[in-house]
Amino acid sequence: MHGFRYFGNRLHCEGVALEPLARKYGTPLYVYSQGTLTDHFKKLDMAMSDVDHQICFSVKANSNQSVLRALANLGGGFDIVSGGELQRIIDAGGDPRNCVFAGVGKTEPEVEFALKRGVYSFNAESEPELERINRVAARLGKTAPVAVRVNPGVAAHTHAKITTGTYENKFGIAFEKIEAVYARAATLKHLRLRGLQMHIGSQITTVSPFEEAVRKILPLALRLKRQYGLEFLSLGGGLGIVYNPALESGAAGWWKSVASRNILTPQKYAARLVSLLQPLDLRILLEPGRFISGNAGVLLTRVEYVKRTGRKHFLIVDAAMNDLIRPAFYEAYHQIVPLIRKAGVRIKSDVVGPVCESGDFFCKDRPLPRLGEGDYLALLSAGAYGFVMASNYNTRPLAAEVLVNGNRAALVRQRQPVRNIWAGETVAPWLK
Ligand code: LLP
Repeated sequence: MHGFRYFGNRLHCEGVALEPLARKYGTPLYVYSQGTLTDHFKKLDMAMSDVDHQICFSVKANSNQSVLRALANLGGGFDIVSGGELQRIIDAGGDPRNCVFAGVGKTEPEVEFALKRGVYSFNAESEPELERINRVAARLGKTAPVAVRVNPGVAAHTHAKITTGTYENKFGIAFEKIEAVYARAATLKHLRLRGLQMHIGSQITTVSPFEEAVRKILPLALRLKRQYGLEFLSLGGGLGIVYNPALESGAAGWWKSVASRNILTPQKYAARLVSLLQPLDLRILLEPGRFISGNAGVLLTRVEYVKRTGRKHFLIVDAAMNDLIRPAFYEAYHQIVPLIRKAGVRIKSDVVGPVCESGDFFCKDRPLPRLGEGDYLALLSAGAYGFVMASNYNTRPLAAEVLVNGNRAALVRQRQPVRNIWAGETVAPWLK
């Protein structure tokens, strides 16, 4: 399900028209559909129902307090990568006991904080990290639950900047070395070997890489379970979503093409993996981020200027790369649609932001309706790695965020007041 569609000519999020929201709260504005978040969570949860499992939403994808609370209310756990994310979960009413703490660079204060709060597992990525966790646990008189991240050496066939399962990157421990690492970890008195973790990359659009990785680590997981009494296996996240329905199916709109698209669905994922996983008799953890929130969010923006140059038709909008960096950073495609649908000619347009970088664009030469100053656009599929990757570059305040549920809309993050951007700065005493 996808909560964004036109009723008449007006784009809605569930039962709420988006243009009035954009006028009320201003732009750039992120809008999230709670119905879509819920639907995606439940679909994956249902699909995996034949194995003992827990979905741990990857907080790095979208960490708004309301999004986290909505997922916690559904029984979701969380995949976190910093002390800050753990604090967010606690503040949003989530339970640290449902959190797995990943990341290659956990600091001592972060390890201590997570230990005191009782996270479900530290997903460790190196031997020095295991030693550090052991040391901190000893100091606190605790036993730390850990899993080690195995790098299965599988190519995920995704963008180079988001592939993680091969040996050329910093993540995890090589498949061939992992048992020696467990053997060493077993001698560390303040660790409890609770699980095994993997994550092969992000925006993976076929089941095959997941299946390949799972088949590869199954015997390993069984051996480790027998030897050390492991309780869980985490498959990581990575389930891809459709960013460009036109490319995939030729259909004009998202909602028209959903049924026919050849995409990775939770059903397909589960159909290939569940029967492999059942004999393990381990608790299965999933860490999806994008799959849950990606298509549950849009970024609304207003056209400020139309600028025609010899060859180009630019729509200069009030959102920029600092609000949504994915096109600039990954050459990512985001579908762009007007909030008020327009018939008539399509003009090849570049939608660009006001930031002083030529990388500050959302699309190039894309056929869009004839638009003018004051028209609004929505950048779709912006609910994952959108707001969370925003910055204050060019002293631009962080955008506001709205959550919609049925006919209700609530401002769930106010636009950052501009002075707030430099509130922590001071003028050095010798300059005064
Ligand atoms: N688990 C681990 C250990 C991860 O590193 C990640 C993502 C996830 C789970 C969640 O992956 P997902 O289900 O969302 O694919 N900023 C990039 C994506 C970076 C992903 C980093 N790790 C983007 O905008 O595409």
